[in-house]
Amino acid sequence: MTTDTEHTPGCLQTPALMAAEPELAAAAQQLARHYQLPEEANEHDFVLELTQFGVQLRWKSQPKVTPLLVDFVRGKQAWRRQAGGARDEAIVRALGIAKGHRPNILDATAGLGRDGMILVHAGCQVRFLERNPAIHVLLSDAINRAQHDDSIGPWVTERARVLPRGSIIEQAYAQQLAKEPPMAIYLDPMFPHRDKSAAVKKDMQMLQHLAGTDEDSDQLLPAALAVATHRVVVKRPAKAPYLAGQHPSAQVPSKKHRFDIYIKQAY
Ligand SMILES: C[S@@+](CC[C@H](N)C(=O)[O-])C[C@H]1O[C@@H](n2cnc3c(N)ncnc32)[C@H](O)[C@@H]1O
Repeated sequence: MTTDTEHTPGCLQTPALMAAEPELAAAAQQLARHYQLPEEANEHDFVLELTQFGVQLRWKSQPKVTPLLVDFVRGKQAWRRQAGGARDEAIVRALGIAKGHRPNILDATAGLGRDGMILVHAGCQVRFLERNPAIHVLLSDAINRAQHDDSIGPWVTERARVLPRGSIIEQAYAQQLAKEPPMAIYLDPMFPHRDKSAAVKKDMQMLQHLAGTDEDSDQLLPAALAVATHRVVVKRPAKAPYLAGQHPSAQVPSKKHRFDIYIKQAY
């Protein structure tokens, strides 16, 4: 729903979406128009490129960094799902997903959709909401490709939906969501990493450069609590302060993170 970049901290301009190969020029132009992104090269440090494998994000000033293409079908994400451990994941427990109980969820800071796809795999209907124009395209493209895959396509199509770009902290968007409210909202705003080591994965570094550090993240909690019918779950680094300084009702720890659970009512 956002039509400009004014809500996107750290992003004065939007990356262009262009073809990586001349044969894809028409398709790239169509995509750029669909997502309302610039079609011509610009000064932005990132560019979205349509390749034959999907849309990738290239960091122009860091040529050694491999362009980022989200892929739920092959690679690490696929491996995590095939290993099957969805039910053991802390995020799944925090959302209160159990056999016979699969709440519908809004992932209101969807990012690259990795956490959200764990919830989809665990059997939940998940709506993905992202405000950053470039990240929104990467995610939409990845979910779209997953939906067309022979093996995972059927359940991804049935359960995963990427919403129009925007944010739950925009009043009009929140009102729209409240018409069909999710039982649970999942929040994972960017947290400023002081640690510049390899511990911060390259794709997270790219995301931080692109989207900034979500300085307005405290606004997410009241907005989510107003819309969700049952609970809000917030992912935080293990030692980070509570989002909006608000004590949770319960917590689920994981290796490097914790999931703070804010319960409005029991499922
Ligand atoms: C740490 S990333 C989320 C990573 C995600 N959980 C994943 O597994 O890929 C945070 C994302 O939330 C988005 N974001 C932050 N604040 C937002 C807001 N108020 N509304 C919508 N998206 C937001 C950022 O643009 C960024 O893409």
